[in-house]
Amino acid sequence: MQIIAVKDINEMSRKAAQIIREVVQNKPDAVLGLATGGTPEGTYKELVADYREHGTSYHKVHTVNLDEYAAIDPSDPNSYHTYMKDHFFKYIDLPENQRHLPNSEDISEQACARYDDLIASLGGVDIQLLGIGRNGHIGFNEPGTPLTIGTHVVKLTDSTRDANARYFGSISEVPERAVTMGIGTILKSKKIIMVVSGEEKADAMSKLVRASVPDSSFPASALVQHPNVTVIADEPALSLIK
Ligand code: F6R
Repeated sequence: MQIIAVKDINEMSRKAAQIIREVVQNKPDAVLGLATGGTPEGTYKELVADYREHGTSYHKVHTVNLDEYAAIDPSDPNSYHTYMKDHFFKYIDLPENQRHLPNSEDISEQACARYDDLIASLGGVDIQLLGIGRNGHIGFNEPGTPLTIGTHVVKLTDSTRDANARYFGSISEVPERAVTMGIGTILKSKKIIMVVSGEEKADAMSKLVRASVPDSSFPASALVQHPNVTVIADEPALSLIK
């Protein structure tokens, strides 16, 4: 695992966008695995700025998102479908039928398996962007999730619902379940980059750096098995690491 230490979230976003842009420039039909949340917002801004300034094209790219809330209308302002449209898709030339997110309405096992099949049929993810939860979750793989499974439905922990309540107004409005790529799915990506910013992630970051074996009580530790992981972390996120 390579750790790139940067000053702040702006530098983190520029670095992450630069890595993603290089993948698209080298492989115009790349498959990008994408994340939502507060941390990657600046990365998407940088990619949009690059699209406008340098014309990096996404017309052959496919995107697959990590996760989506269950039983949420894709047009709901808090759905990850809406997040992706508002932060990235509406600004670039990525055709609508090449944007893939887990199905929020059909959460059957078959629908989850179809999502993994879709990723495989696209040739796999070339670069997967990840954030990390305060409890070490990646995607919505909460502590205790087996580290080998594919896309599945999860019950969100109170800690994750509480962290996401900022978007919904109150925790009671945050959906209780979500569909997420499993860690097995994530580990099949050819390259993984994780963006980590802020003091509230310092504890998770220090656990990640100390992880030497995969441990399901801290899902991000599964990344130690992957040969091509780059973590871009800012000074506050690295503040507990000596
Ligand atoms: C989002 C996702 C989550 C977030 C994590 C951190 O698609 O998969 O694992 O990356 O919850 O979220 P932020 O960036 O809001 O702190």
